[in-house]
Formats: sequence, C-alpha cells, structure tokens
Amino acid sequence: MRNSFQSSNPFMPVSMLLFVSLLCTLFSFSTAATDPIYNNFVQCLSSKTSTKDHLSKIIYSPNNSSYSHILQDYVRNSRFSTPTTRKPLLIVTALNESDIQATIICAKQIGIQLKIRSGGHDYEGISYVSNVPFIILDMFNLRSINVDIKDETAWVQSGAIVGELLYSIWQKSKVHGFPAGVCPTMGIGGHISGGGYGNLLRKYGLSVDNVIDAQIIDVKGRILDRKAMGEELFWAIRGGGGASFGVVLAYKLKLVPVPPVVTVFRVMKTLEDNASNLIYRWQFVANKIDNNLFIRLLLQPTTIKSKNTVRATFIGLFLGDSNSLLSVMKTGFPELGLTKQDCKEMSWIQSILFWGNFDNSTSENVLLDRKGGPPNFFKRKSDYLKTPIPKEGLESLWKKMIELGKAGMVFNAYGGKMDEIPESATPFPHRAGNIFKIQYFANWNEDDAASDKKYVEQTRTLYSYMTPFVSKNPREAYLNYRDLDIGTTDNGKNTYNEAKVYGVKFFKGNFYRLVKVKTMIDPENFFRHEQSIPPLPSHGGRK
Ligand SMILES: Cc1cc2nc3c(=O)[nH]c(=O)nc-3n(C[C@H](O)[C@H](O)[C@H](O)COP(=O)(O)OP(=O)(O)OC[C@H]3O[C@@H](n4cnc5c(N)ncnc54)[C@H](O)[C@@H]3O)c2cc1C
Ligand SMILES: *[C@@H]1O[C@H](CO)[C@@H](O)[C@H](O)[C@H]1NC(C)=O
Ligand SMILES: *[C@@H]1O[C@H](CO)[C@@H](O)[C@H](O)[C@H]1NC(C)=O
Ligand SMILES: *[C@@H]1O[C@H](CO)[C@@H](O)[C@H](O)[C@H]1NC(C)=O
Ligand SMILES: *[C@@H]1O[C@H](CO)[C@@H](O)[C@H](O)[C@H]1NC(C)=O
Ligand SMILES: *[C@@H]1O[C@H](CO)[C@@H](O)[C@H](O)[C@H]1NC(C)=O
Repeated sequence: MRNSFQSSNPFMPVSMLLFVSLLCTLFSFSTAATDPIYNNFVQCLSSKTSTKDHLSKIIYSPNNSSYSHILQDYVRNSRFSTPTTRKPLLIVTALNESDIQATIICAKQIGIQLKIRSGGHDYEGISYVSNVPFIILDMFNLRSINVDIKDETAWVQSGAIVGELLYSIWQKSKVHGFPAGVCPTMGIGGHISGGGYGNLLRKYGLSVDNVIDAQIIDVKGRILDRKAMGEELFWAIRGGGGASFGVVLAYKLKLVPVPPVVTVFRVMKTLEDNASNLIYRWQFVANKIDNNLFIRLLLQPTTIKSKNTVRATFIGLFLGDSNSLLSVMKTGFPELGLTKQDCKEMSWIQSILFWGNFDNSTSENVLLDRKGGPPNFFKRKSDYLKTPIPKEGLESLWKKMIELGKAGMVFNAYGGKMDEIPESATPFPHRAGNIFKIQYFANWNEDDAASDKKYVEQTRTLYSYMTPFVSKNPREAYLNYRDLDIGTTDNGKNTYNEAKVYGVKFFKGNFYRLVKVKTMIDPENFFRHEQSIPPLPSHGGRK
C-alpha cells in the first residue's frame, strides 16, 4: 500500500504551495502564540518517539505563515471561512500512521476536540469548523492507492480524492471502475464512510456496498483491519460516517466491470417545452428502467427571453453503446424523444469528465487536480421520495421555484441494485421503495455573500414546501448531504435524545445498532462532532 502511484508522494506539488487565495488575507490570528494547549500538545507529541524527530513537519499553529494556506486548501464551502469562523488551534498534517496515533492519544490526554478532514467537502464544513476549541487532523498526505487488477481490488487511503482513485484504476484497466460520486475532488475518508453514491448506483449500489476491508485507528491508537475490528465496527464505517468511530486510514474496494464504450446525454427542456409532462413521467420510469441506465434530473429556476421558467436537465449514463440505449429508451421512456444526436459514446473515464462538467477536450489528468471543486458558497438539503409527485403538485412546485428564484433540486433515480440490498446490510437505510433522492441546492459567490441568509432560507422554504410529497416518520436524509438544520448535538456535549432526531433520519432503525458499536469502541465519546453517533447514556454518554 505504501509503494504506489506518483501523487502518493507525501509532499504537496509545488503548484499547491504556490496557491494563494484572497481569502487567506481575511484570517485573523487571535490565538496567542503561547497558547497552553499548543504547548501541552507539542510536549505530548514530543514524548512519542515516532513523532518527535519530525514534529516541525506536521504541526501548524496560527503563527505559522503556512497555517492559513493549509487550512484553506481543503475548505470547500466559503460560508465557513469568514473572519468570525472559529479557527483550529492547530493543524496536524499527518505523514504516517504513527502521527495519527500520537495525535489521537495526545488530543485525548489534553481533552481537546479533534476534527478529521480528508477532502473537506462536508456541506456544513464540520471537518474544519467547530463551536468549541479544536484541532484538525488533516489527512491529505495519506493518499496511497494500490490497484490490483488480477484481484479486481484496490486499497485506497483516506486522503486520496475520488478522481485519483478512478484515474489509478483507469491506468491499469479500461474495463474496471468503482461506484463513487461524480465530483472528483471529494475525499475518500468522508465520501466512503458516509455511503458514497454516483451514476453507477442502479447497477452496483453505493461505494460502501463494494468495500471489502478497511483500516481504522481507534481511540486507543490501535490500527485495526476488518478482522481485528470485527464485523460490527466494519459495518458501522460503511455508511455510518467514520468520524464517530475513529480515524479511517484506508478502504479496500472491490472493483466493478465497466464496458469499453458507454453513452451519455444531456437533454434540456423548459416548462414551455412541456417539461412538466416529462418530469411527471420520469418518476414512473427512472427507478424501473434497465439497470444499465441512470438518469438524473436537474431542476432550476431560470429566465429565458425575459420569461421566468423552470429548466429541467435530464443527464444520462448508459453502460453500453448508443444503439442499445436508444432501444431501451424507445420502450422505457419514449416521451423524452432521445435521438442519436443527443447521445455521446465514450470511454468510462471520459464519462467521469462529462459528468464532472469538464469539456470534451479535457485530459484525464484533471482527475488528479485536487484544487477543483464546488462553487464557493452553498447550502444543501436532502429528501427521499416513495410516491410520485402528482401533476398538480408539480405545477405548484414550479410556481414556488420561480417565486424563490435561486434554489434548485436534483432528483437522483434509485431502484435496480439499490432495491436488492437489505436496509440493514449497511448503516445506509434508504433502499427498496425509494424512487429517487432529492438534493436541494443553492450556489452563490463572494459578490453575493451578503445574501447568504436569503439563499440558505430559500432551500429551507423549498424543503418545507415539499413536505407533503416526501418520506415521513422519519423524514429521511442522506448523511453525506450534511445538513445541520435537521438536528445537532452541539459537538456531542448534549443528549442521546437529540442525536436520535437526526440519527433516525440518516439511519432509520440502524441508528440503534450504530449506538451499540459506538458504545463498544468509544464509550467516552472522544470521536464526536455536531452530528455524530453518541454512546448509550449509561456508558458515559448523556441522556
Ligand atoms: C461538490 C460536491 C459534490 C458532491 N457529490 C456527491 C456525490 O456525487 N455523491 C455523494 O455521495 N456525495 C457527494 N457529495 C458529498 C460528499 O460525499 C461528502 O461531503 C463527503 O463527506 C466528502 O468527503 P470529504 O472527505 O471530502 O469531506 P470532509 O469534509 O473531509 O469530511 C466529511 C466528514 O467525514 C469525516 N471524515 C473525513 N475523513 C475521515 C477519516 N479519514 N476518518 C474518519 N472520518 C473522516 C469528517 O470528520 C467529516 O465528519 C458532494 C459534495 C460536494 C461538495
Ligand atoms: C509559534 O507559537 C509557538 C507556541 O507558542 C511558539 O513555540 C513558536 O515559537 C511560535 N513561532 C513563531 C515563529 O512565532
Ligand atoms: C513515521 O515517520 C517517522 C519519522 O519519519 C518515523 O520515525 C516512524 O517510524 C514512521 N512510522 C511509520 C509507521 O512509518
Ligand atoms: C511552520 O511550520 C512548518 C511545518 O510545521 C515548519 O517547517 C516551519 O518552520 C514553520 N515556520 C514558522 C515560521 O514557524
Ligand atoms: C406541449 O403539449 C401541448 C398539449 O399536449 C401541445 O399542444 C404542444 O405542442 C406541446 N409543446 C411542445 C413544445 O411540445
Ligand atoms: C467536443 O465538443 C465540441 C463543442 O461542444 C463539439 O463541437 C465536438 O464535436 C466535440 N468533440 C467530440 C470528439 O465529441
């Protein structure tokens, strides 16, 4: 696992070090250089033989000139990077397992909150912000990837990004892939531990459905693989979120076959093109059509020729050639009127770029670019749908979206493999019976930062508007679409009953099993955050 491809070099590429963001100038360094926590922590680390000789390479305090760059490098939502955002007392950029072990032991000894960050894509920024004093364990140096095509497996460390993983697989084989999300810059650590879905989910399920081994470092600093951690903990870190249980070091993945040629399409329709009928029909088709076909539906308010309307974009991936796709569509979803001209045949790796919104002249090397990423400022929420929205419901929804003007929705089709996997197979419970998942979104940039509240509020209004149509008791939500609106434990200081509020939305009945695992592996609740799994109250957790 250690001898792997080029970018596993523990040192960042020069281009990254040169990266200077305007935002860096916004940081205020209020932490005193003589902070006792810094001294205690450094003293503790220096007492460990494995870290003492390279301490200066892995610890960044706010008085270090690289601190703000390191912090900023994996901030993906600028909402959580303002002058008033609480900053970490320290950032530890671990270079190897021993550094992580020492960080856990020392943070626990000092009693300081530890936040773990891999790709930093958390929608609420909880891997790099906190409302109590904290330090960050940054995983970006730990990004080895070892692909074994003969075995059809790959070991990937948490600090690798999805793009690096898919690139490494592609280098070894053009007919192997892995079902992960469509954003190449997501970190493996957060993405896979929280479930991980992408356009292969109807064929192969989630990332976690294709994980066969893992390495985690627990609160005692032990490095545990699947055999050593046992099946309960191994179950928990496949969808329960890693950060409640320990530091996930790596996952071993089962690769999946992909054909040499796949077909993609992107078809846009507005309300004036009768998009309503198509969207209505899509709800009866998207989860039942051939498993080789995934059709995402993107809905956005827009203005065309000074008329306010809603634009629907149907984005497809078909695991096969365009002729086969057209015949699937002819019987399955003729209303869309897909034509040969709409279809683009390409290799699977090129389809990753297409879905990542890169233009068709972009090189595959872009997948190694750790700096790409989402829009500057954003808010997301999620829902699940089990019955189609009636026609009248859709019509009034368009009115609402146009009235709001900013917030949009993405409908992601379920069905196929997702229907076959039992709800309790992994902590991720949203399986059979779901037609699609909704992601609510609003994106904006720095110029609009003053409208933050307004745009966040729009997603909430839309979410509230959708109440009659979506899942109930609980109103289900996807862990990786972090949304603190649906409940928080204030860093685990508060109660088990509070955790239950979001816990059953994310995990349904699996929440209680996660609590048991938590009680077993981390009874004192060292590994905690705003939406973590609490231990049972009788074991140190609070009621
Ligand atoms: C632009 C964009 C597109 C997205 N698209 C998709 C998509 O297509 N499919 C999908 O499923 N999701 C998607 N997501 C959501 C994404 O899966 C989550 O944000 C995921 O948690 C990101 O992982 P990360 O390592 O980058 O995040 P981080 O912010 O680093 O971490 C997220 C959470 O995981 C914890 N964590 C991180 N690393 C570790 C570790 N090594 N051990 C233990 N805990 C750890 C953190 O403490 C935090 O709680 C998208 C997000 C963005 C911003
Ligand atoms: C930064 O702060 C630490 C902790 O107080 C101190 O030991 C160190 O000398 C400081 N470095 C600089 C360059 O000020
Ligand atoms: C981690 O790196 C340090 C310093 O190079 C070294 O002393 C230690 O043995 C390493 N640990 C592992 C597990 O490689
Ligand atoms: C900043 O931190 C790096 C890495 O820990 C260290 O090499 C460097 O000497 C520090 N610089 C200052 C000014 O403290
Ligand atoms: C939309 O549907 C109406 C009624 O079914 C039809 O008359 C009209 O031609 C359609 N418009 C488009 C652009 O397809
Ligand atoms: C790439 O995109 C351009 C512009 O959309 C198009 O004209 C061209 O035909 C495309 N090339 C390939 C190989 O698909």
